[in-house]
Amino acid sequence: MSEFTLLEVIPVGNILGECMLWDEVTGCAWWTDIHGRRLHRYHLANKKLQVFELPTRLCAFGFVDKDERLVGAFAEGFAYYTPGTGELDWLTQPESGFTGTRFNDGRVDRQGRFWSGTMVENAPATDAAGNAVTGSLYCLTGDQAQKRLGEIRISNSLCWSPDAATAYFADSPTGVIRAFDFDAASGSLGNARDFVRVPDGSAPDGSVIDSKGCLWNAHWGGGRVVRYSPQGDVLAELALPVTQPTCICFGGPDLDLLFVTTATENLDDAALAQQPEAGHVFVYRTPFKGLPESRYRLA
Ligand code: BGC
Ligand code: CA
Repeated sequence: MSEFTLLEVIPVGNILGECMLWDEVTGCAWWTDIHGRRLHRYHLANKKLQVFELPTRLCAFGFVDKDERLVGAFAEGFAYYTPGTGELDWLTQPESGFTGTRFNDGRVDRQGRFWSGTMVENAPATDAAGNAVTGSLYCLTGDQAQKRLGEIRISNSLCWSPDAATAYFADSPTGVIRAFDFDAASGSLGNARDFVRVPDGSAPDGSVIDSKGCLWNAHWGGGRVVRYSPQGDVLAELALPVTQPTCICFGGPDLDLLFVTTATENLDDAALAQQPEAGHVFVYRTPFKGLPESRYRLA
């Protein structure tokens, strides 16, 4: 018998569901459909889904401490977004001169900084002078974004160990999630090494760390979510009825439910007929527990 029980399928049919986050203050799961330009808030106890239509694509976001705004990585850059009013307040657009890149994965670190990385969406990506560029990973504090990694094709998998001593990040097309020594005080990344390589035919997409410090990763193209020990050993596997899981989080009152976003992007009619639930959100009960999501600290 599987250690995972499917509890709910939330039938949202997202093109590219991403950035699944649990808000323990309100008991809601939040996620974005990047290409659908929609933000979702699902109240678990009363099963109420709210959808916010966005003026531009929201790729990743975090909760702001004691504030109703979200800190967002939109396709073009960083902004505060207020779901109730729709107010969008731009902070900085570090790749504003570029053509062909957009923001992608992101997360608030354990010290309350927001990180997000870009990807090459339309190759070749160029700067204003026509020179080739790649994606980068940025760290946002206040209205300043500092570049922390470069030479990236698709930023994904960003998360931190419970003690914040290790950061994880994947450039998805490499098939590898890397681990870094993380200096929590300065936010600098050092000692990059390979943590795990996902099987051929899949790419590492979103990750999250559980209460035991194990890393869970959604295998885009592989139709599964895998739990890895801090040493990189496979400890558990959850097979999904769709091939493109994108992002995961633990939620629910006991943080033991696994929420999974998925995508229909790039699936042709034949593939969609085989996986009619593609794009939906899946909720499983697990024998594991997550950690509360860190909140963005206003400077
Ligand atoms: C990106 C997709 C990409 C996928 C697999 C996602 O995070 O948003 O555009 O295809 O990762 O690498
Ligand atoms: Ca992703």
